[in-house]
Amino acid sequence: MQIMPMGEHVGVEINGIQLAAMDAAGVASLKDLLAQHGVLHIRNQELTPEQHIAFARAWGGIDINNYFPLTAEHPEIAVVRKAEKQTTNIGGGWHTDHSYDQIPAMGSILVARELPPSGGDTLFASMAAAYDALSPGMKAFLLGIKAHHSADHIYAPGGYYAKTDMAGDLRGLELKTGALHPAIIQHPVTGRPLLYVNGAFMTHFEGWTPQESQAILNYLYEFATQEQFTCRIQWKPGSVAIWDNRSTWHIANNDYHGHRREMHRITLTGEALKAAA
Ligand code: SIN
Repeated sequence: MQIMPMGEHVGVEINGIQLAAMDAAGVASLKDLLAQHGVLHIRNQELTPEQHIAFARAWGGIDINNYFPLTAEHPEIAVVRKAEKQTTNIGGGWHTDHSYDQIPAMGSILVARELPPSGGDTLFASMAAAYDALSPGMKAFLLGIKAHHSADHIYAPGGYYAKTDMAGDLRGLELKTGALHPAIIQHPVTGRPLLYVNGAFMTHFEGWTPQESQAILNYLYEFATQEQFTCRIQWKPGSVAIWDNRSTWHIANNDYHGHRREMHRITLTGEALKAAA
């Protein structure tokens, strides 16, 4: 296995392995790498949908996404698709998957199925590095507060996607979500403190109005997505990405209008989040 860093603080590219043939020891070594680096980009894979599901099951449970299109044959796989005629994409704002759940997904495994001729990169940001770089005053404030997360303002009728040309593709519009999580959580493997707010699903700090919260959140979103905290995946046929939803945010660049992009995502079951000390 060859491992090359992608960003200063986040991401490694891995060559020389085949996920479809990986045994338990191989999955255990990828789990260690994911905890340390937050994002793994594995090139040159040949994974059928069945092998994608089997590989995900080797990590633990699968959380089925409530909103994205699913295929009848493989309901474990959420289809992240933008068609030639659409202008909106899925995941086009910085976020971490499923933070609106009481127990958010620990990670996601994304397989490239159809790519535009150029563009459609995915960027990731390290929430461990972002937290470390905050001032002692901001750290103390965030360590003492919890944050409300929801998906309703994104997916419910009248929400973000309802006003876009992605509306007809989505499911689960009637669902109600809501979770309260510490603003700074502790990574269950590394113990590192992580900034656990995000621009898509966090609505407000506990005891604060959304307007009051937004002023601080705008600062945090700009701060945490500075280039030095990020890495980028330029997708190629055969690319697979695995990311840790606790320690990273991601955003799918929407810069390929007129072309189709289709990715298959499986989200991996997590564990209850713990506040950092
Ligand atoms: C997502 O937000 O999970 C999708 C990322 C991507 O399409 O690159």
